[in-house]
Formats: sequence, structure tokens, C-alpha cells
Amino acid sequence: MGYFRVRKSVLDGKVSISGAKNSALPILAASLLTNEDIIIDNVPDLLDVQTMLCILRESGRNVKFENAKVHISGEVVNSEISYELVRRMRASFNVLGPLSAVLGQAKVALPGGCAIGVRPVDFHIEGLKKLGFEIRIEHGEVFSKFIKKEKEVILSLPFPSVGATEHLMTTAAILDGVTVIENAAMEPEILDLQDFLNKMGAKVKGAGTSKIVIEGVSKLKGVNHRVIPDRIEAGTYAIAIAASGGKGYIENVIPEHLDALWEVLKDTGTKIEINENRVYIDGSNEKNSTKVNVLPYPGFPTDLQPQIMVYLSISKGTSTITENVFKNRFLHVDELVRMGANIYITNGTAIIKGVKKLSGAKVEGTDLRASAALIIAGLVADGVTEVYNDQHVLRGYEKIVEKIKGLNGNIEHLG
Ligand code: UD1
Repeated sequence: MGYFRVRKSVLDGKVSISGAKNSALPILAASLLTNEDIIIDNVPDLLDVQTMLCILRESGRNVKFENAKVHISGEVVNSEISYELVRRMRASFNVLGPLSAVLGQAKVALPGGCAIGVRPVDFHIEGLKKLGFEIRIEHGEVFSKFIKKEKEVILSLPFPSVGATEHLMTTAAILDGVTVIENAAMEPEILDLQDFLNKMGAKVKGAGTSKIVIEGVSKLKGVNHRVIPDRIEAGTYAIAIAASGGKGYIENVIPEHLDALWEVLKDTGTKIEINENRVYIDGSNEKNSTKVNVLPYPGFPTDLQPQIMVYLSISKGTSTITENVFKNRFLHVDELVRMGANIYITNGTAIIKGVKKLSGAKVEGTDLRASAALIIAGLVADGVTEVYNDQHVLRGYEKIVEKIKGLNGNIEHLG
């Protein structure tokens, strides 16, 4: 198992943001809706993306990935995706609808639990049933068979789930009649998926709002598409620069995707200057406490919650973070406490009493964003920090060592 060795650093300089993992994954899944050629640009080279490319290959499509471009061609012929691929990444489940819509039936393993808590797929399954699929779950696998869709279907999600919104909207794009998704997630990645689908010839509108309307078409075509920048990667580096007391530029970002973060950083004393596609961060001031309420977009993103916790751990006064998306997403707290942070959890809220400094330790990341947070903690802590279980970080941060070194951060990746 590899690890990252990190030493205290004041970050400065600039960092360029890669394409969004969470856009690339649903877009790649949606590419199963046609047999025509597709080119997707600005795709980050990450373990999760490689897993999705393996799924496309398993379906029969030919896939070439070089210089951030994925070329997809050839027919979709196989609709059974192995457990091994779904086990590695939850987003794999989102090929169930597209495959069973295109080939009539499909079999995909049920995703297991994960470190950030119970993550069911009940909204996906209920939605697919309403779209006219017969669903059976047996031996940990989900069988889906298309029977018949009603002319108009209204899907009302109990919570604005990103994955369920994307899965159902992609599947409905190629089913006859109208589908309305109410209480849809509004994340920018959903708008990117809508753009991709519409370039393919789909008729989807409303993404970015809570109501998405899909008029199904019988055939979709090949397309060229460029994935939007990764707002979570951008936010992670912005927090790292600010927490380290440094100054620097985040480049190739869509600043308004991170308005909730800029507000928290400004509110606590970090200076932010926003330009068209770059943001200047000046974290040299003393930081103050605040209250963060984690919510679906446009609220503060759960995928930046562990990272902002590190920042607030060394800010003056008592801060709170209330997690409303994944209620149990606090596994990083124990590791931060081992590094000297003063945090406790009560009823889904973390109470963070700011300390003057953190101290380096051997720690282990339990998921992608928790691991990123521990790397930030290593950059601000005295001494040496070793963040174990490198696989999590490699799932979601392209060239993280090069990028942190480019910001004058002291980090090594050791095997
Ligand atoms: C996506 C992101 C992930 C991010 C999350 C929330 C991708 C590949 N991943 O994950 O990085 O942390 O959005 O912004 O885009 N839920 C149910 N039943 C369901 C589906 C979801 O109860 O069928 C619940 C979940 O347990 C969770 C909440 O809804 O509490 C939100 O989850 P969801 O938005 O679906 O997250 P993902 O799409 O898995």
C-alpha cells in the first residue's frame, strides 16, 4: 500500500484544474446510448475514470484514452457488468438503465457500502421501475428488463440525489414519451450531462433547476464534448492554499460553481479575487471561525466538508459543520484529532475548537475527500505526516503530487 509523505509548507504559485471526475463518469455512462463514435475531451486520468472505461470495454465498445481525450467507437453488445468493476466504484451502477434501455435487459452488481456510510440505490431502482423496467435483485445483482413505458412519467425524488438524477435522466433520454424528474439535483455536472445528451440529439431541459423534463427520442448520435472543470479539485486546492497561509491562483475553473466555498473563505478572513476563469486566494491573514451547513448544490458541497474542517481546525474560535448530505461522513475526524485538532461530533454536527497548530502523524484516509483533507492537514502541521492508503486519492485527484509541488508544497508519493 502506497502513501504520501507531507511536510509543512506555505503554498504559493498557481495550479491548473483538470476536467471534472463527477461529470466525466455520468457522461461516459451515457455514451452507451449510441453505437456511433464519441469523443470526450478534458477527461482526467484517474482510477475511477479507468474503471468506467473498463465497463465500456466490457459492454463491447472500443475505447482509446490519450491526452485527456476518450475516443469511443463500436457496438454495445454485452449488458452484464461484472461485480469486480461495480465493487471498485459506485458510479458504475449508473450503466444499468442505459444498458437495459438499449439492449432490452441488463445485469449489474448492486454496489456495496462505503466508508462514508450507507449509500443505497433505492431512488435509482424505484425510478427505473416507474420508467417501465422490471427489476429483480438476486444474489447481490440487479437484473433489469424493459417492459413498457407510460407516455408521461413523473419521478419525484425523495432527496435530490446526484446519481439518481443522472441515471434516470440518461435512461429516459432514449425512452418514448415524456419524463419529468422533480426534486432533481441541481449540481453543475447535471447541466454538463444535459449538454452532452442534447448534443447527441436528446431533448432534455431544466438541468440546473429542480425540475428536469425529458422528451424521449428513439435514436441518439455520435458527438464531441468537453467536460467542465472539476470544482471539487479546485476547491480542494483553494482550501489548501488558504489553510497553509499561502497565496496563489486556481486556474481553469468556473468560479460560480464554488460560490458557497468563496463565501465561507471570505467570511473567515481569507481574501478571494474572482476573475473569469481564475481565482486568487490570499490566506495570509489570521482566520476566524464560522458555521458551515453542508447541503446539495448550490449549498456547501459535502465533497469539500473534510477539507474545510482542516481549515477551521486551525481558525480562531469555535466553528460548526453540519452535514446534511451524508450524515455519517465524519470518519476523518478521528485522524484529525490524532494530529492535534479539537473536534467532536454531536447529532450530525462537528464542533471544531480552533487550535494554534496541528502536529504531523501517520494517518489513514478512509475515502477520497478524507484523504485529500489529511494531505492538507499534513501541509499545515508541524513535522512530517504520512497519509496511508494512497488509492483513495488516486481515484479522484489527477497528478496531485505534481500539482502540490507546483505550489511549492512538500509532498512525496512513496510505494
Ligand atoms: C455524487 C458524487 C459524490 C458526492 C455526492 C453528493 C459522483 C460520481 N459522485 O454521489 O462525489 O459526494 O454526489 O454530492 O457524482 N440516496 C439514497 N438513495 C438513493 C440515492 C441516494 O438514499 O438511491 C442518499 C444518499 O445516501 C445520500 C444522498 O442521497 O445521503 C445523496 O447521495 P447522492 O447525491 O446520490 O450521491 P452520489 O450520486 O452517490
